[in-house]
Amino acid sequence: MTQSAATTEVTRAAAAIAECRLIADMSEELGRTTRRFLTSPVAQVHAHLRRRMEALGMSVTVDAAGNLRGLWQPTSTPRQRLSGRLILGSHTDTVPDAGAFDGVLGVVLALQLVESAQSESLAFGIEVIAFSEEEGVRFGVPFLGSRAVAGRFDPALLALRDADGVSMDEAIRNFGLNPGELDNATAGEAIGFFEIHIEQGPVLEAEGLALGVVTGIVGQTRCEITFSGQANHAGTTPMHLRQDALAAAAEWITAVEATARQHAQSSVDPGLVATVGKMNIEPNAGNVIPGKVRVSLDLRSERDSVREAAVEELLDRARSIAERRRISCEIRRQMEQPSVPMDEQLTSLLSDAVEASGFPARRMPSGAGHDAMVMATRIPSAMLFLRSPGGVSHHPAETVLEDDVEAAIKAGELFLRRVNDHLRIQTN
Ligand code: GLV
Ligand code: MN
Ligand code: MN
Repeated sequence: MTQSAATTEVTRAAAAIAECRLIADMSEELGRTTRRFLTSPVAQVHAHLRRRMEALGMSVTVDAAGNLRGLWQPTSTPRQRLSGRLILGSHTDTVPDAGAFDGVLGVVLALQLVESAQSESLAFGIEVIAFSEEEGVRFGVPFLGSRAVAGRFDPALLALRDADGVSMDEAIRNFGLNPGELDNATAGEAIGFFEIHIEQGPVLEAEGLALGVVTGIVGQTRCEITFSGQANHAGTTPMHLRQDALAAAAEWITAVEATARQHAQSSVDPGLVATVGKMNIEPNAGNVIPGKVRVSLDLRSERDSVREAAVEELLDRARSIAERRRISCEIRRQMEQPSVPMDEQLTSLLSDAVEASGFPARRMPSGAGHDAMVMATRIPSAMLFLRSPGGVSHHPAETVLEDDVEAAIKAGELFLRRVNDHLRIQTN
């Protein structure tokens, strides 16, 4: 190879980054990355990933929850093979105006690991799953893809409707899938689940570290609260006769922030966080007193009892604010997901792999939700984090460093080898 050819050679990390950026352009919106559950750009993502998987010799299917799944079997004779396969993957849906790496990087790197595994003599197959939904943007409920794979998809969810009035059942059918077959999405026997993901926070960067080994994922509650007052004329209704739903919601939102801040200063759970990230105002006109306001609540904590108590306190607060203002308040609980530890054995093999690849194995909890959170309830799971430059995520400025991506690939390769050696020892 000439020197100029060597210097222009694209590294596998650079190729993975370019692929994530290419997928980011498959979007519902021009110039921004927004890709909600089973919207039309998802078909483009599937076509792209299907081509990639087939080129790697994988057999590809799409299950009824819209998860794209590729199965690779090693060349070892079936008698040498272990039953069950290792599942790798992450999600391909995004928040509105997202970055290019949340979720997708984990799918792209899973395919890189399959490519690496082809020159190893692994005793197990690898299934790569591009989960269809993790963010909960379209229907307010997250982890739809991994719920189906973990056998935890509640059919009652199919009745939920998106902002355009399309039910989940219709969304699945419109994508050419059959919700009646959701049970078939459940994973059979699996050795484990491994997800690579960006940290989405500032910890690794602050400590100058490329990689983190996830010990567990914090629990989260999501609710929707609707304050209903009386819409009326902004010019003629005296202040003391108003039933302003937005003023009630605003009072409650500041209480949400104050409660989370109090926790942050206490020793009970300084890691508790609470967010009101979504609001819908009716009729939403400058000269009309707001009659109805719907807001979201997302509250997370490592400690389930602390999370549950904080949620109850805030919902009571919403009811009492509404009562004092003579309006009504309706609460819809959308999700309770307890905190989940990662599997000790797999996590210890992953820590070894990270160290063997020349990096400290910084163990850390995840504040963000991940597919591993749902998978871990059925299948032993482990997660590897990559540094998020600037701690930025859920934002177009989200990025990764090429060296960190290379480090993650190396650690992933060594992890697969260690899982293989560990299982061989166990079965001999
Ligand atoms: C997903 O990214 C979440 O943590 O909400
Ligand atoms: Mn996300
Ligand atoms: Mn994610």
